[in-house]
Amino acid sequence: MGPMTAEERPEFTFRLLVDDDLELMHTWLNEPGVVRWWEGDDVTPNGVWSTYSPNRPEALAGTDSTENWLGLIDGEPTGWICCWPVLEGLEESKPWFPLGVEETAAGIDYLVGAPVERGKGIGSAMIRSFALDIVFGQHQWFTQAAAGPYTENVASCRALEKAGFTFRGSVTHPGEAHNPCSLMVMDRPESEEPAEEPDDEPADEPAEDGA
Ligand SMILES: CC(C)(COP(=O)(O)OP(=O)(O)OC[C@H]1O[C@@H](n2cnc3c(N)ncnc32)[C@H](O)[C@@H]1OP(=O)(O)O)[C@@H](O)C(=O)NCCC(=O)NCCS
Repeated sequence: MGPMTAEERPEFTFRLLVDDDLELMHTWLNEPGVVRWWEGDDVTPNGVWSTYSPNRPEALAGTDSTENWLGLIDGEPTGWICCWPVLEGLEESKPWFPLGVEETAAGIDYLVGAPVERGKGIGSAMIRSFALDIVFGQHQWFTQAAAGPYTENVASCRALEKAGFTFRGSVTHPGEAHNPCSLMVMDRPESEEPAEEPDDEPADEPAEDGA
């Protein structure tokens, strides 16, 4: 099968995951094709709540700003995808920095929920739309999107490549079951350059005269 043309690529919209979506998330995460890559993660209902709920304590306290989104095709939830500031996830991202990942990068993770939907170009389309519309489109400070799937997870590595990510190096996490991981990065597209940083020049408005 050749590469999909833009017309064939499914069109994604995204909405933030809410507590009512956690049952679906629980089902998705426990599907064998997914959970095999989630080794060591708690995918019980409680575990799913404490990792993905917008009301988890770390999110409310502001110490975990991971955004969990659902990717929708024709309004139907098709997959989950998240983004997180790499500086908040050093356990995973620390080895990424020597390979060129910037401190202003977003890490992403994702899945396509239904096994029958995988391998049809849906995951790569979701990742690409998410990187452009959400990571870069909604966060002016993110300069890169990065992911480090297990190299063994061929579908994931290939989907990233098809989405426009490039391989930047191999990473080994001590103690992980499926080492090594493949660091894949997408830079913010030129036309989507972040707005210029505010400089130290005084603002172009009348100074307060203190009177
Ligand atoms: C990873 C995932 C999101 C990718 O989505 P997808 O819809 O399957 O991806 P796509 O169809 O866009 O692309 C997958 C590519 O990998 C290829 N692929 C899949 N399995 C493969 C394998 N075992 N060997 C070689 N190529 C493989 C597909 O053929 C396709 O490439 P092609 O179009 O060039 O032929 C999806 O497979 C998934 O949800 N997997 C389970 C959860 C998961 O692994 N999440 C990522 C954790 S890092």
